Amino acid sequence: MNTDRFFQILALTGVIFGIRGITRALSDSGRKIETAITAGEVSVERGRHLIRISGCNDCHTPGFMEKGEAIPETEWLTGTVLGWRGPRGTSYPSNLRRQLAAWSDAGKWIEMIRARHGLPPMPWTSLHAMTDDELRSVHAYIRSLPVSGDPVPPSVPPDQEPKTPYLNLAPVMPL
Ligand code: HEC
Repeated sequence: MNTDRFFQILALTGVIFGIRGITRALSDSGRKIETAITAGEVSVERGRHLIRISGCNDCHTPGFMEKGEAIPETEWLTGTVLGWRGPRGTSYPSNLRRQLAAWSDAGKWIEMIRARHGLPPMPWTSLHAMTDDELRSVHAYIRSLPVSGDPVPPSVPPDQEPKTPYLNLAPVMPL
């Protein structure tokens, strides 16, 4: 075999192995996604994914809005004492670990959530739009986290002054 032919074969083999490598990598990543989360499944992993893509940490985790996932998971969903004050009063994003610790029965928790239209800025509509298996997964994920952090203060009626720092949600008209 002359040298040119040798290098041609070598290059071709490289291409074939290269392509096989890419295909394997693609199907591997596909399989990983499939094994991680399939439609309709109820799992801690799916609940974690839903919490991450739905912005729950932005309000329910101290510092998350500023630092994002640099905040370790050990601090996720432990509630914040920064109030959100608006026309309906001042509300506090609950310590979800504590709240869920009291609801071992996922079905009963979902019933409670679906019947509840609480205070803003909690996106109640988004929670209500979740399917039962999504809510069951969220329930499973939050309950997989150890209970930690203090309970948040109770909400404050509109005519009362909050005793904590708060964000003002009242609309301001331009001058
Ligand atoms: C914009 C801020 C914000 C976001 C985003 C948010 N929440 Fe809330 N959440 C709150 C506030 C404030 C309350 C308290 C509402 C009340 O007192 O009625 C609350 C209350 C709750 C409660 C009731 C807890 C209890 O103590 O009874 C649950 C459950 C809950 N949130 C889950 C979630 C989940 C799950 C997500 C993500 C899909 C989420 N929240 C996203 C602000 C938020």
